[in-house]
Amino acid sequence: MLIYPSYGECCNLKQIVVNGGNRLNGTVHISGAKNAAVAIIPAVILSDGVCRIENIPNIMDVNLIANILHEMGARVSRVNKTTLDIDPTYIRRPVAAYDIVRRMRASSYLLGALLGKFSEAQVALPGGCDFGVRPIDQHLKGFAVLGATHSVVQGMINVKADRLTGGHVYLDVVSVGATVNIMLAAVRAEGRTIIENAAKEPHIVDLANFLNSMGADVRGAGTDVIKINGVKHLNGTTYSIIPDQIEAGTYMVAAAATGGDVIVSNVITKHLESITAKLREIGVQIDEYEDAVRVRRTDELRRCNVKTMPHPGFPTDMQPQIAALLSIAQGTSIVTEAVWDNRFRYVEELKRMGAVISVDGKVAVIEGVKELNGAPVKATDLRAGAAMIIAALAAKGTTHIEDIEHIERGYEDVVEKFSALGADIRLIYTDDPIARRA
Ligand code: EPZ
Repeated sequence: MLIYPSYGECCNLKQIVVNGGNRLNGTVHISGAKNAAVAIIPAVILSDGVCRIENIPNIMDVNLIANILHEMGARVSRVNKTTLDIDPTYIRRPVAAYDIVRRMRASSYLLGALLGKFSEAQVALPGGCDFGVRPIDQHLKGFAVLGATHSVVQGMINVKADRLTGGHVYLDVVSVGATVNIMLAAVRAEGRTIIENAAKEPHIVDLANFLNSMGADVRGAGTDVIKINGVKHLNGTTYSIIPDQIEAGTYMVAAAATGGDVIVSNVITKHLESITAKLREIGVQIDEYEDAVRVRRTDELRRCNVKTMPHPGFPTDMQPQIAALLSIAQGTSIVTEAVWDNRFRYVEELKRMGAVISVDGKVAVIEGVKELNGAPVKATDLRAGAAMIIAALAAKGTTHIEDIEHIERGYEDVVEKFSALGADIRLIYTDDPIARRA
């Protein structure tokens, strides 16, 4: 029995409608981290026992990856809204279902997990957000160092190794996905693996902690050198996922954009350091507590420059959101996207709301305006969709946001959470798409 509706059943013509102008006030509770969950759930494949994963966000991407494991034969049962029990011992074939896999980027983690467990894997070429080329050459480079060969046949990537043995990988670019995948393939390989120029995101550390809770030997996660001593077996475990730093940052920016006063609770403040620092530079007041931050904005927003970088730099997954905020700041701001080739597709949608932004390659120049106006817009990808909500909350008038399945991929109960903060926001079902511009 499928435990989740298939992907297709979820995509009716839904729109988020926002009447802007309300200041956000109150407390929002942050869910588990999407990018940790979509790495840890495939990692369960490496276990020889049942794993209980807690604090999982109830979002499309997580449900999809859980569905893939279920279709591969794993026993997946939902204990409650945020907890899954997964028994991977019934997975017999290292092949992932094509039709779901190709829709999401994180499905590439199945390669590392299946290779690590079965010494072979067949997975569809990954999908995910569309902002430029999303290569996996560094993933394959790491697999090759461990002794695996690969081929691509009819859209499926096949990787295979007679024997996985540890090796020394120096990543040409800092890649979250490659770091995750090489960790997954290496934890049960014979001998030691060293990953240099590794990604240091919080979700990399969370994955390492999860693997070690199963009996792996992963050291140095969170630094740019990760050392892994392979072990023969990994046991079942119970593990709780870290809070989502990007969801938290999104609500922090929304509070600032509306001139509100919001407590963002269930956070790890250290994971928010670059976001907090940038918001303070823009003139937002942020008070830090044990596991929460309070975000207030009473004065005018100030312009500033932003450059996205791998952690601990300013996260690329916060770039659309901060750009939406800067579009109503005083003065001219410059946003440089240094991680992805083309992560400014949302700018055309913001300009429909009156933003004044010019994009040249990886740089956007934003001339702050006094006020945005509601308009019919699209969510061009997950974080762009979040930026549309932020702009709509601050705008005058009504905004219809289409293609919101992108937003539902990564934000749990987004309409409910914003509504509880006082936003005039609702989800509507419609059979006629917004009268789109010609
Ligand atoms: C992860 O994507 C995240 N996705 C992305 O978040 C995030 O934007 C990105 O890391 C950077 O932080 C998940 O964790 C599921 P990368 P990933 O490999 O792993 C180049 C969101 O909004 N590269 O770190 O695909 C690549 O082109 C999503 O939650 C290679 O050249 O990103 C990019 O320029 C969107 N070769 C840079 O490295 C490779 O083999 C960083 O990519 C791999 C990557």
